[in-house]
Amino acid sequence: MEKIVIDGGARLSGKVEISGMKNAAVAVIFACITVADVCIIDNLPQISDVRQSLEMLSSIGAKIRAVGRNSVEIDTRKVKNKVVPAELARKMRASYYLAGACLARFGSAKVGLPGGCDFGSRPIDQHVKAFTAMGATVNVGGGFMDAVTENGVKSAGIFFDCVTVGATINTIIASVLCDGVTVIENAAREPHIVDLANFLNYCGANITGAGTDVIKIKGVEKLHGCTYSIIPDMIEAGTFMVAAAATGGRLYIDNVIPKHLEAITAKLCEMGAEIEEYDDAMLVTRRGELLPANVKTLPYPGFPTDMNPQIATLMCLAKGTSHISETIWDGRFRYVDELRRMGAMIKVDGKLAVVEGGAQLTGSCVRAVDLRAGAAMVIAGLACEGRTEIEDVHYIERGYDNIVSKLRSVGAKIKKINTPDDADMKTG
Ligand code: EPZ
Repeated sequence: MEKIVIDGGARLSGKVEISGMKNAAVAVIFACITVADVCIIDNLPQISDVRQSLEMLSSIGAKIRAVGRNSVEIDTRKVKNKVVPAELARKMRASYYLAGACLARFGSAKVGLPGGCDFGSRPIDQHVKAFTAMGATVNVGGGFMDAVTENGVKSAGIFFDCVTVGATINTIIASVLCDGVTVIENAAREPHIVDLANFLNYCGANITGAGTDVIKIKGVEKLHGCTYSIIPDMIEAGTFMVAAAATGGRLYIDNVIPKHLEAITAKLCEMGAEIEEYDDAMLVTRRGELLPANVKTLPYPGFPTDMNPQIATLMCLAKGTSHISETIWDGRFRYVDELRRMGAMIKVDGKLAVVEGGAQLTGSCVRAVDLRAGAAMVIAGLACEGRTEIEDVHYIERGYDNIVSKLRSVGAKIKKINTPDDADMKTG
């Protein structure tokens, strides 16, 4: 079985380069179906979610050609409205973007219900609400979402009952080719929604307001191919920022958009990190004591839920009491049991966690229970004394491009091993 093995205690120091954003990449890849032409997508992270998205596209007739380590040519001219194998769709959350893309292009879609990290219920009622408003008859059952229209989707006005990244993205994709103007209100404002809108506008779409809570999509008859580069991953950047603070190191984090990191930067400064911002980089240093803090996760531009496990780990190292209030996912705190195995003192009551920080964390055998929980285990392993072994590393590899070699390049004693009998292997 694959494991990540870390001998903790090293202060991270040097320069790391952030990869393209997972959650933007998967949206853009599925949106290529609506383009029905050839697109070159650059700055794609080498992660399993991207590989699986490309695999799903080729399973319905897209031609995928690697044109560089992080660039692919995606030709969707011959894509058919076929059902993607359920075992593929179930592997990740973003597979439901197939529904919006096939509705836009073909007027119907049958998609296996998505999988993705399991942190409680992940409903799709707002996706159904949007597609229904656009004239589709939607049935969800038997592990599939089946959406059909008489002769294509129609523009509509949609007011989401909650701020949802996925349903906002799916509605943008579904409406990009239909007559009239679709208006999304109470839209999510995440940077990856802006990235998707920019990509589609480069292809000839007419989308305005992305990044605000009102997005207007004026349908166009046809789109054309383009070359597009995915924005840097703000959660990967935030994860490295926390790792620098946790190890008392000094990290130059290159290829970031500081604006996307404002909530994370503010919180880390509050906890004692020193952060210098450049045009497309951050220098994160932590010399003094870490300080406790309180966090409430919110939709962008608030503190991201995908940074909950990482900031909680940092709070464990800060003398005093910290609090995290999680407002997005009811199962987000599943990582706490794993941190407790390393000596963390965290009490969870529903959506609130109280962290009694300051205890020395000690290396242990832990699991990555989901993608960001796995990242938190890495940070805990780097910051504590002794050896930490992390199982289920496939979760981490869903969203972090080359995390082991990036960390090794800045001084971490970290290795990925493939068999349990290598556990005594030196990680120097
Ligand atoms: C996206 O998930 C991200 N995944 C998640 O990141 C991220 O945690 C989440 O947005 C919030 O930022 C991708 O982009 C692939 P939502 P998504 O729809 O789209 C409720 C990671 O680690 N809701 O914004 O599934 C839902 O229950 C992953 O990279 C409904 O009630 O999230 C939640 O409370 C993990 N009905 C809230 O909205 C719906 O139809 C936000 O969900 C849809 C959502």
